[in-house]
Amino acid sequence: MNEHPILSVTQQSQSEQIRRFRRLRMKESLRTMVRETELAVTDLIDPLFIVPGKKVRKEIRSMPGVFQLSIDEAVREAARVKELGIPAVILFGIPEHKDEVGSEAYDEAGIVQMAVRSIKKEVPELVVITDVCLCEYTSHGHCGIVRDGIIVNDESVALLAKEALTHVRAGADMVAPSDMFDGRVKAIRAALDEDGFLDTPIMSYAAKYASGFYGPFRDAAESAPQFGDRRSHQMDPANSNEALHEVEQDIREGADIVMVKPALSYLDVIRRVKDRFQMPTAAYNVSGEYAMVKAAGRNGWIDEPRVMMELLTSIKRAGADLILTYFAKDAAGLLRR
Ligand code: PBG
Repeated sequence: MNEHPILSVTQQSQSEQIRRFRRLRMKESLRTMVRETELAVTDLIDPLFIVPGKKVRKEIRSMPGVFQLSIDEAVREAARVKELGIPAVILFGIPEHKDEVGSEAYDEAGIVQMAVRSIKKEVPELVVITDVCLCEYTSHGHCGIVRDGIIVNDESVALLAKEALTHVRAGADMVAPSDMFDGRVKAIRAALDEDGFLDTPIMSYAAKYASGFYGPFRDAAESAPQFGDRRSHQMDPANSNEALHEVEQDIREGADIVMVKPALSYLDVIRRVKDRFQMPTAAYNVSGEYAMVKAAGRNGWIDEPRVMMELLTSIKRAGADLILTYFAKDAAGLLRR
């Protein structure tokens, strides 16, 4: 065998022309030139949690740096988001009163409807998307109507369509149904079209998994189910062919943007969805994913900004065009430098 392995590599490079990949990694200027994926501020969507009251800015225990905001504070936050160059926010509402049928979700004077009006009035160029679901509004915390322990599909879908319409009438630029009931995109599209909102797009949470990573969100939105879970409508984490069928159906029903959620444990699903449908594709970098990075960062166990950028870049590299993330403002700050 060879007595001088190091020498042999050099000799080989002359005879067989090994590729020296390191040539293009030697300087940051070169690395920049051959970089395949570029995260942009315009890829980001910032989630906001709206609560009743005035001057409320309450940090969420399990999501450091994320706040429940009253409408006046949300307007100020929206202005900051716009200032940073982030194109859009997505609104979640926490109502004053919850009931069995989530009445405030489709009330013209509900918390989200009021927030949309105020934000569109003060920061008109910011794209305002609304999350369409009942879980924040029902006393039992489920995403629809519950009868005999079953979350019923079609009646819930009718209420979601009503909810989406009130959001758009209030001025929302786009609606994002997050429930995962069957047929809701079709029902929402029909309701919007009938009311003349032919040009208002729908971003569907098309492949949304029953995930443990939503824990901190349920603190933020006070929407944890009081009994049972969401496995009868959200997807089994073990499935990915099924995700393609879900996405295909939402596109047929009229979805303009399709979303995969969560993002990080489902990068393979994002890639399959992007490759198959070539649609504008969004990914939701969810609350648990955010909380883990924050916790490790706070403990000094990881370099938080670096890990944040690496994760967001990986979501984009997997095929996402848009990323809903609680890191939006932090990432925008870094990207602008
Ligand atoms: C439902 C909804 C949820 C999230 C977004 N929309 C919670 C759920 O399905 O239980 C989770 C987002 C996150 O974890 O960041 N309205």
